[in-house]
Amino acid sequence: MIIDVLSIFPSFFSGPLNESLLGKAISQGLIRVRVHDIRKYARDKHRTVDDRPYGGGAGMVMKPEPIVEAIEDLQKESPRGTVILLSPQGEVFTQATARELSGLPRIILVCGRYEGIDARVLNFVDRELSIGDYVLSGGEPAALVVIDAVSRLIPGVVGNLASVRSESFEEGLLEYPQYTRPRIFRGLPVPDVLISGNHEAVKRWRRSQALLLTKLRRPDLFERLKLSDEDLELLRE
Ligand code: ADE
Repeated sequence: MIIDVLSIFPSFFSGPLNESLLGKAISQGLIRVRVHDIRKYARDKHRTVDDRPYGGGAGMVMKPEPIVEAIEDLQKESPRGTVILLSPQGEVFTQATARELSGLPRIILVCGRYEGIDARVLNFVDRELSIGDYVLSGGEPAALVVIDAVSRLIPGVVGNLASVRSESFEEGLLEYPQYTRPRIFRGLPVPDVLISGNHEAVKRWRRSQALLLTKLRRPDLFERLKLSDEDLELLRE
């Protein structure tokens, strides 16, 4: 998969893309991430990328020409790529969106800044995504969130595919609690069932913890679950 990023702060990405899981996926060639400076597409000698808003008001608005010319330049290559604008006005990015995007050959992520971007740019964009109901100072952290969530769904990026599959949000459930050694930490023991060696009991305990946690913390997700008879029994226990 190819991921192109358009930003006025390309250096924002250099650290995160060289670390950990993402860095490894990139160096192994499982994903290709290219960050492009929108300013390079500005035509004037000051490389201006923003201007004052028509109609007045505070802040600056990103000009349409450099962004649209950058998008068009990138789309000369094949595959053309799906253009995604990160903005608080977009549809909310979820695990289902990540799964959907991970199946595409190429995405082009466009980072705006919070004061705004000329609305005509939307005519050159396929999708607008928000990572949540809060305002960031720019689309860059949101683009990193999308890159991370999408990359780990690409085969080979996460060592154990089962660990991705069993993850809560894939099923619309929160994750059950995990423990490792020591068995007692500051007087707090690991639940007995996890030390019992009874795999079936461990499985049931984890499922019931995930169900209870989701019911308590995320009633919105819980309502949408399709519960099996076994789940209903676990919830009654
Ligand atoms: N840009 C500013 N805030 C954002 C958000 N919540 N999601 C995506 N892009 C953004």
